[in-house]
Amino acid sequence: GRGAAVVTAVARRLATQRRRIDATLAPFLLPLDILREVKDKMRAELEYGLKRETQADATVKMLPTYVCGTPDGTEKGKFLALDLGGTNFRVLLVKIKSGRRRSVQMYNKIFAIPLEIMQGTGEELFDHIVQCIADFLEYMGIKGARLPLGFTFSFPCRQASIDKGTLVGWTKGFKATDCEGEDVVDMLREAIRRRNEFDLDIVAVVNDTVGTMMTCGYEDPNCEIGLIAGTGSNVCYMEDMKNIEIVEGNEGKMCINTEWGAFGDNGCIDHIRTKYDREVDEGSLNPGKQRYEKMTSGMYLGEIVRQILIDLTKQGLLFRGHVSESLRKRGIFETKFLSQIESDRLALLQVRRILQQLGLDSTCDDSIIVKEVCGVVSRRAARLCGAGLAAIVEKKRENRGVELPWYHFPFAVLKELAPQCDVTFMLSEDGSGKGAALITAVAKRLHNVGQK
Ligand code: GLC
Repeated sequence: GRGAAVVTAVARRLATQRRRIDATLAPFLLPLDILREVKDKMRAELEYGLKRETQADATVKMLPTYVCGTPDGTEKGKFLALDLGGTNFRVLLVKIKSGRRRSVQMYNKIFAIPLEIMQGTGEELFDHIVQCIADFLEYMGIKGARLPLGFTFSFPCRQASIDKGTLVGWTKGFKATDCEGEDVVDMLREAIRRRNEFDLDIVAVVNDTVGTMMTCGYEDPNCEIGLIAGTGSNVCYMEDMKNIEIVEGNEGKMCINTEWGAFGDNGCIDHIRTKYDREVDEGSLNPGKQRYEKMTSGMYLGEIVRQILIDLTKQGLLFRGHVSESLRKRGIFETKFLSQIESDRLALLQVRRILQQLGLDSTCDDSIIVKEVCGVVSRRAARLCGAGLAAIVEKKRENRGVELPWYHFPFAVLKELAPQCDVTFMLSEDGSGKGAALITAVAKRLHNVGQK
């Protein structure tokens, strides 16, 4: 009778709804054959970046870092480290002991970098950095000591030595003027000089991936890849010198900062980008740039989710079809909310509470859909990252010739795409800070660089 008719109508509506949600999310479910293609393309881009004839135009820049070995445990001393490029700016004092009581002790202070400084002038940015260093030295009571300093600067830099690095271009949330094409170490030295209050011995400029790798390398010298999945996304790895055509010499290895975040900037993965990815890109500080990073890293995942939610709402599938003021706000979905919502440990009621905090009134059905969207977006990020890593480990495996591989990755994708490689993952505890100090210590030990 009538009851049955109503039930059928509801069931039909639900089925239509489901179909439309599935259709919206389908482009995010990258099947293995697509991922395999991503891996192959990444692999090709890695080669372009290394070869002399193609490297100038390569999208994946493969920047030499002049870091040629891991710490050997004989490093020691007190070092300062700066960590710029993530969500916060940090200054660290790192005490390294060698020998049998080998250890690393760290003290650090976090400083916010206001948006108007990140996107102001270069001088203002570096003056602010030096102001933070001054505060830290004061706080630690070490203003007089001219300590060696390692600068983790997590942006693409062209290096000609360990203590020189020209900024290729800003990425993530930074856009300070008059820095691109300039040496970041010079800019830091000049800002220290301008302040004329203390002196520092800047020994190394380091990418966060390299710091991360070196920190793990301190525990396990077999660690030869550094991966950052943070605000941005990037990988470095130890490459055979003979394959790095733009650097003299054929002996040994050097760490290459791949800057793989720019993968796809030549359009080679445009077919897997969705309209949501394009919207996020267009609304970013660097449209058209860092296309792979924008699909895989923390700074952008929340924005992708927001774009999908807006679309689902417009289709009448969410939030009673009403696009609220909050949902229109760029950046409301910080990564931390994304991972909370996505977590399986979180009850739906808690999901709704988070949405409430963000100013989004949700029904129970809404919260189910939001959770699904977050899951799909972060799963795609992980799978894409896995495909990229598969390219790197295969490359390393080839370098090793027929020797048995020694790796071991948790990503199922990686297993699938690079089945012959066995990869071990290590979590780098505070890699970018500690790593900068370790690299500084190694540089001091090997070349006694700095002291200018
Ligand atoms: C961006 C930067 C890169 C850094 C990564 C992670 O991709 O360009 O240098 O390693 O973010 O912080």
